[in-house]
Amino acid sequence: ESMLDFVQQLPKAELHVHLEGTLEPEHIFSLAKRNGIELVYKTPEEVVAAYDFHDLPSFLSIYYAAMDVLRTEDDFYELAMHYFQRAAAQNVVYVEPFFDPQAHTSRGIAFDTVINGIARAQQDAAASLGVESNLIMCFLRDMSAESAAEHLEMAVGHLDKLIGVGLDSDEKDNPPSKFAEVFARARDLGLKLTMHCDVNQKDILEHIGECLDLIAVDRIDHGVNALQDDALCTEIARRGLGLTVCPVSNRFVVQNLTGNEIRDMLARGMKATINSDDPAYFRAYMNENLMALVEDADFTKDELMTLTRNAFEVSWMSDERKTDYL
Ligand code: ADE
Ligand code: ZN
Repeated sequence: ESMLDFVQQLPKAELHVHLEGTLEPEHIFSLAKRNGIELVYKTPEEVVAAYDFHDLPSFLSIYYAAMDVLRTEDDFYELAMHYFQRAAAQNVVYVEPFFDPQAHTSRGIAFDTVINGIARAQQDAAASLGVESNLIMCFLRDMSAESAAEHLEMAVGHLDKLIGVGLDSDEKDNPPSKFAEVFARARDLGLKLTMHCDVNQKDILEHIGECLDLIAVDRIDHGVNALQDDALCTEIARRGLGLTVCPVSNRFVVQNLTGNEIRDMLARGMKATINSDDPAYFRAYMNENLMALVEDADFTKDELMTLTRNAFEVSWMSDERKTDYL
């Protein structure tokens, strides 16, 4: 059996994928046409050629600009459905996708338009593709805590559609503590909590420390820099906290696939998982991320199985459902 066949047939879970980061160049064009939007690019190939990311802000500016083609509930439905189809084709059977409502409400798109389109795709994907999912609403950390709080209140009528909240976008000078009140309220509403601690960001060890001690997160997105502090590693392992690592994304944003770091996490008993982050932009879905670890860091089948098992284990699916996969 080839490594690719092994990776393909393994039932997998994805816990760190931004739905807006699954917007493929071809889809940007079809949505622009349908919505009467003029693009500065002439072909999908020109769009891909413009993907020149070297750090988080250079990625984010392209990511937010492209979203302008998403306007109607059907657009959000299609965005999510196209991702779920790709997930199904790679035998990703369970997903906890992120979405960024503030990136849409700030353009005049109603919160309900966004979440209703995504939720309808989740139902259809479960029924027709067998891909189950639970949605995580992310706040943009470079916007105010007040805006985050307002969006959390918008979500109160949709709690049946959400499993948790997250925190993403530009991390520089936007620490977890800025959102302590909003996340406390989210927990009171019964939501799980996760936050990005992006690789090699300013003040990153303080950010990870605040996630643990102030926010009491249920998971950490990325979190690779915890390895620089033994006490953080010990605490993350003791709590059994999942870390959603995104190798190909890291290769783009910080020029490091983080293969050695992922091995180090496993050796320390930290529950690392492998994820695609923004697969349309980094040109790699789940299987391409796993294969990058095989090809560029000599990962073994055993290591890939451990990472995949970790994802089911630290996921927020019901304990009853987990027994199907563990
Ligand atoms: N939003 C989408 N992808 C992101 C990433 N990798 N880091 C922070 N915010 C994001
Ligand atoms: Zn991310």
